[in-house]
Amino acid sequence: MRRGPPARAEAEIRPAALEDLPALVAIENAAFATDRLDRRALRHAINSPTILARVAAAPDGAVVGYVLVQIRRGSDLGWLTSVAVMPGSHGGGLGRRLVEAAEAAAGEAGRTRIRLEVRADNAAARRLYESAGYDRIAVVPDYYEDGGAAWRYEKTLGARAAAR
Ligand SMILES: CC(C)(COP(=O)(O)OP(=O)(O)OC[C@H]1O[C@@H](n2cnc3c(N)ncnc32)[C@H](O)[C@@H]1OP(=O)(O)O)[C@@H](O)C(=O)NCCC(=O)NCCS
Repeated sequence: MRRGPPARAEAEIRPAALEDLPALVAIENAAFATDRLDRRALRHAINSPTILARVAAAPDGAVVGYVLVQIRRGSDLGWLTSVAVMPGSHGGGLGRRLVEAAEAAAGEAGRTRIRLEVRADNAAARRLYESAGYDRIAVVPDYYEDGGAAWRYEKTLGARAAAR
């Protein structure tokens, strides 16, 4: 079954705080088999002014998902470098909401496009991005630690997202 109970959809999306670090480490370890961000990288992501980090917090306060967007000075591109949801909360719309939150954050920061790389064999994530309006713009061979290929996607943010 893919649909979660309605309560999951009521999760709050908010900026990540340092107190969220243990939850982010747990999500990362549960969600990815390779190419994991370690605690130090996740702490950096939370603290960095050029990485926009958002978390999904369930009504009971538990942080069950996160997304990161990297922005660079002088570039209109934001890079969605990671999105993950705890396996027990999959299928409830949080992945989509986190991607939308990443787009809104990038738009607020003045970025007009978002790019990302996803494993070619990650059907769930590819479907999420494609249904959210991302176009495949390149294949990047040997991108991941295990030699797996990535597909690069890009989306131009709409006027609404950019103005939010
Ligand atoms: C990818 C991921 C973030 C999706 O999170 P989620 O909360 O389960 O996704 P949602 O419930 O918001 O689903 C959004 C869309 O994604 C797609 N999708 C999600 N899970 C899917 C699955 N198992 N099979 C096919 N499509 C799937 C669908 O298009 C879905 O839309 P729909 O429900 O209207 O069909 C989650 O599977 C995850 O954390 N995976 C491990 C980490 C990862 O691979 N991250 C992406 C790295 S680039």
